[in-house]
Parts: sequence; structure tokens; C-alpha cells
Amino acid sequence: MNDNSRRVYDSVLGLLSDVDNPTPMVQLSRLVPFKHTKVYAKLEWYNPFGAVKDRVAWNMVRDAEDSGRISSSQKLVEPTSGNTGLALAMVSNAKGYALTTPLSNQIPLEKRTVLRLAGVDVVELEDSLCPAPGAPEGAIAKANEIANQPEFEMLNQYANGSNPEAHYRTTGPEVWHQTAGLVTHFVAGLGTCGTINGSGRFLKEQNPDVAIIGVYPPAGHDVPGVRSLEQLSQTEFFTPDEYDGLTEVGNELAFEMCQRINQEESLTAGPSSGMALAGALAAIPDEPGNVAVVIFPDSIFKYSSSVLNNVAGLGAAPPSGTKREQLLDSMIENTRANPDLVMDVDAAHNFWNEEQPLVIDVREPDAHSQRHIPGSINMPLDELPVLAEFLPEKRDAPLLSVCERGNLSLSGVLFLKSLGYQNVRSITGGTEAWDEQGFTIASN
Ligand SMILES: Cc1ncc(COP(=O)(O)O)c(C=O)c1O
Repeated sequence: MNDNSRRVYDSVLGLLSDVDNPTPMVQLSRLVPFKHTKVYAKLEWYNPFGAVKDRVAWNMVRDAEDSGRISSSQKLVEPTSGNTGLALAMVSNAKGYALTTPLSNQIPLEKRTVLRLAGVDVVELEDSLCPAPGAPEGAIAKANEIANQPEFEMLNQYANGSNPEAHYRTTGPEVWHQTAGLVTHFVAGLGTCGTINGSGRFLKEQNPDVAIIGVYPPAGHDVPGVRSLEQLSQTEFFTPDEYDGLTEVGNELAFEMCQRINQEESLTAGPSSGMALAGALAAIPDEPGNVAVVIFPDSIFKYSSSVLNNVAGLGAAPPSGTKREQLLDSMIENTRANPDLVMDVDAAHNFWNEEQPLVIDVREPDAHSQRHIPGSINMPLDELPVLAEFLPEKRDAPLLSVCERGNLSLSGVLFLKSLGYQNVRSITGGTEAWDEQGFTIASN
């Protein structure tokens, strides 16, 4: 028998949250500038597998079992690096299913390792196939391919109604109950939009005046778990007309707020919690009677790499690899931080218009043919040394090195520099940021 009051359970699945066993809410007292509005953080890392997605994984599996879609010894495939993957791995272990997750080799090593430790068959894909954090298009394509085999089933959190339904059944009722029906504002970061969609629907049914506010990052962001407006078009549950507010929070502010939450509120919140709180503080007025609940999706512990990349002054990332690999890594990181070698997408667009550089796309041909900057030539990074003979003779020729999101292209810049080219740049955010900014794009 599960006993929430003593916190004694028959199985780990008994720990899954619902209105009788809610995740905690903590009032933020130090970094909230309001006199009247009360702001509560709902701490989703108190779910048994560490994140808000535990609710979704469990609900998708349960509904699939109840409807006969899956049964014993089922093989599941899901294109997720993150919290849904780990939660599905754990639910699958508890229920006897096997799980395969296709994902980008750019996903932090911590995550790939933990999934493998949990028994998942991790299928790693090249960076160029899997562009942005939270936008695993290549992984989705691969998962679809695997799901075509009859023994596999893809639960697909981007289109499975059991995702928002999990929040309609649990998160929404918890918030209503925990605030004794006094909640006036509900704020969630947008990933699949299951959280905002399901919780929002429940809360609106209790009180249509509860304001539902979604928070999202800009194109080219580095906040794991959430999606820019462009990326949001890939989830079926993004229904902005039903929200009362939609707020963009920049990458830097998200990480700054994350750091402040950890330091000032002693809450071990992750980057997307910082984003959601910054959005809440921008969107909610300071008025008597306001009670805001902000979803804090998960904790900081799995985000060392993103924190090191986005918060200054925390020291260098721990070295890995051979000395030669470490040297190359640090050359790439120096390039990334060198304003003479990288440009944001607007500056790159001006450079492209004004200096008409030769655009060298260093991705694999598949990725290049799907979408590329018009006029670019495709020279995959691995082949650059042999293709170098086709590069301009003049070493002052303007060159633009491009990839999907501005990582591989840094190696391209280094290589071109090593050949003596003086006017070489890479675009931060790569082709994806270019496309999201609405600049001309081509495909063939
Ligand atoms: C780590 C993480 N996962 C998921 C989500 C989003 O949840 P959903 O997919 O329900 O929109 C967020 C939102 O902030 C998040 O930070």
C-alpha cells in the first residue's frame, strides 16, 4: 500500500505525483521584486526520475497499455535526449519494455551515458542531422524509420494526447489544490507544450480568469528542453490562441536567472526554470491578490556542460580526451569566443550581402541538400583537406563557414585559417538561425 503521509511505497511508480502526492511548491522570497504578487516555484525534480516528464512518460505508457497499443515485452522507440527519455527508460524498466532512443552526438555526454546506464539502446546521430537543442529533427526521422518495424511502437510525445492529458490529470489539479483555488497566473516554459496545454485547460475549467502564460527562448538558444517559436511549429500542442501571454526570454537572461535562483533562493533549479521565472517576472503585474505558480521542470545537476558554456567565471570544462584532442577542443572554443571569427546571424547576413563571400557549407551532403544558404558550396568537414585545392587562390578572399547550428563550422574556420585565409567567419546558430531569421534559404 502506498502511504504518502509516511512516504512509504510499494514501488517507485507509487512516487509519481498526483493531487494526493504533489510535487512541492516553494514561495520565492528573495529575487522576486513584487510587493503584492506571490510567486511560487513548483519543483518538478521531486518526481521519481527527476523531472516534469515523469508524469508524461507514465501517462503515455499507461494509456498505451489500457488501449491495447502496447503489451508485454514491447519495444519502444522515442526521439528524446532528455527527461522524457530517462523517464521512459525507468518506466520501461519497471514494466519490462525495451527502449531505443535515437539522438544527436552533440547531446551532453552525461545524458547519453545515463540513458545507457539505464539500459537504453542509444542510437547516436551526427550533429548535422540533429540540429538544435530541443529540435531533434534527425532523431525524429530516425525514430520514425525504426517505428516502421512492426515490433516497435513510438509513443511520440509531440503528438500523443496522453502528454497534455498527464498534466490535465495531475499538474493542473495539484496547482489548484495547493493554492486552495487562489492561483491567478500559471507559467510554463514551452517544449512539447504538454505542460501548458493540459494544466492550462484544467485550471481554466476551474476558473476562466486564471492567466496561462507560456515562455520560450529565441532562435539559436542553448536552453535544454524548450523550443523557439520556429521550433514550436513542430509540436501539435502549441496553441498560442489559448494562452493569455507569450513571453520571449533571451539565453543570457535565462542562465543568469538560473544562477540567481540557485544562489538566492537555494533551489537547485535548471536553466529552463531560470527562463520560466524571468518570463513570469516580466509578464505578471504586481497587484494585490495575484498568486503565480511557475513550473520549474528539473534540477541543475545534469546541465554542467550547458552551464559552463553559458555562465562566465565558473572555470574551464573538465578536460577529456587525449592531449591533442584537448588542444583541438580549446582551439575550437577560442574560435567560438573570438569576435573576429564568428558573427551573429544578422551580421553574417550583412557580410553575405556586402562582401559576397564564398559560403562553404561543411555539413554532410544530405543536410546541405535539405536547406542551405543560396550559392553555398558543400565541402563536408572530413573532405575539406582534399577539396582545398578548389578554394580561391587569393588569401584575402572573404569566406563564410557554415553548418547546421554553428559548431562544425568552427572547425571549418580553423582549417581555412590554417591555409592562410585572412577573412573567414562562422555564423553563430548556423543555417538554422539563418532560416529562423527569415533569410533566403535554398534546397535541392
Ligand atoms: C527540461 C524541460 N523539459 C520540458 C519542458 C517543457 O515541457 P513541455 O514539453 O510540457 O512543454 C521544459 C519546459 O520548460 C523543460 O525545461
